Amino acid sequence: MSLAFNDLFSHDSFQAGIFPKTRYQGSKYKLTKWIAASLAPLEFDTVLDAFSGTSSVAYMFKAMGKSVIANDKMNFNYQIAKAFIENRSVTINEEDIQFVFKRDPAFSYKNFISDNFEGIYYLKDENLWLDTVTQNIHRVDNEYKRSLLFWALFQACLSKRPYNLFHRNNLNVRTADVKRSFGNKATWDKPFDVHFLNFIKQANLAVFDNKKTNQAINNDVANLISGDIKADLVYLDPPYVPQKGSLTMYMDFYHFLEGLTLYDDWAPRVDFNSKNRGMLKIKSPWEDRKLISKEFFSCIEKFKDGKIAISYREDGIPGIDEIVAFLRSIGKCVDVKHVDYKYALSKKTDVREVLIVGV
Ligand SMILES: C[S@@+](CC[C@H](N)C(=O)[O-])C[C@H]1O[C@@H](n2cnc3c(N)ncnc32)[C@H](O)[C@@H]1O
Repeated sequence: MSLAFNDLFSHDSFQAGIFPKTRYQGSKYKLTKWIAASLAPLEFDTVLDAFSGTSSVAYMFKAMGKSVIANDKMNFNYQIAKAFIENRSVTINEEDIQFVFKRDPAFSYKNFISDNFEGIYYLKDENLWLDTVTQNIHRVDNEYKRSLLFWALFQACLSKRPYNLFHRNNLNVRTADVKRSFGNKATWDKPFDVHFLNFIKQANLAVFDNKKTNQAINNDVANLISGDIKADLVYLDPPYVPQKGSLTMYMDFYHFLEGLTLYDDWAPRVDFNSKNRGMLKIKSPWEDRKLISKEFFSCIEKFKDGKIAISYREDGIPGIDEIVAFLRSIGKCVDVKHVDYKYALSKKTDVREVLIVGV
């Protein structure tokens, strides 16, 4: 079920769109109504979503009639924020689709995916389709059309992947002739263009104008300068680092989508020694048990002049008590809300999702 926000917020001057259901590690898609209800009593007109991911929370703020800045370090998430947050009216028409699907005899296409990802994620003819469509999307002039087309392409790519991820060289999971206890082979095998057209319809339905200025940015949160950003509220939903178990490494999981957005500059980013042609690792304090607490607190400190809302989980580093204590130490009055929640693919059942609000 896609999320319609009109039953939650009604406005005289605009009607919100319908936010499409997507799968992304740590997405707050299913929690947006709870987050909206928790934040509704706060007074704020402008908001920064500093780790916007799928833009599900940024979109919720847009539907609330706020002026939104959505930021994510990954370029593919930036494209999503362009499509649904910054874009107020541009949609995709039949002519755009024809342009994207058709090989232009006057254009000299590269075969980066076909040449470098054979047998890894998709079949041969699918790789060729991706090479054509990706390069055609890059040739589209209008930045918002481009971002909507990219979003549909990302969703088509994710739909055809076991686990909706790119962490392993595992095309055989899809192609092997075995009895399966998970996933949906029919969805994996559905042609790219069928998926793509379906997602284009959904993308068009999501576009709306909330009569405010909204902006997508593509930066490491460490490089954002608080004085340059006008935000009464800063919402932080950083990568979650559990005390035990494996970490969510966004670049390892989604490097292929990032590559699609950087098609001509993809090669220098690829780790050709890796079996799945992942991207060369760039260390991040947000993905390091020893470094995350310092980074977390310096991020909070940077935005201390406004209201702060933080999504996190009970069993993470830093702990909820430490985050609350830090917020109090910088003069915030703190409220902590909990909800029981089970993430897709998570084996744990008793982890509670937390929203920490400091005003
Ligand atoms: C938990 S997810 C956010 C999910 C998002 N709220 C949603 O509902 O889809 C964390 C996001 O932080 C981004 N990220 C990781 N490190 C970052 C950094 N240093 N600066 C900005 N964004 C970062 C990741 O790309 C990922 O999309």
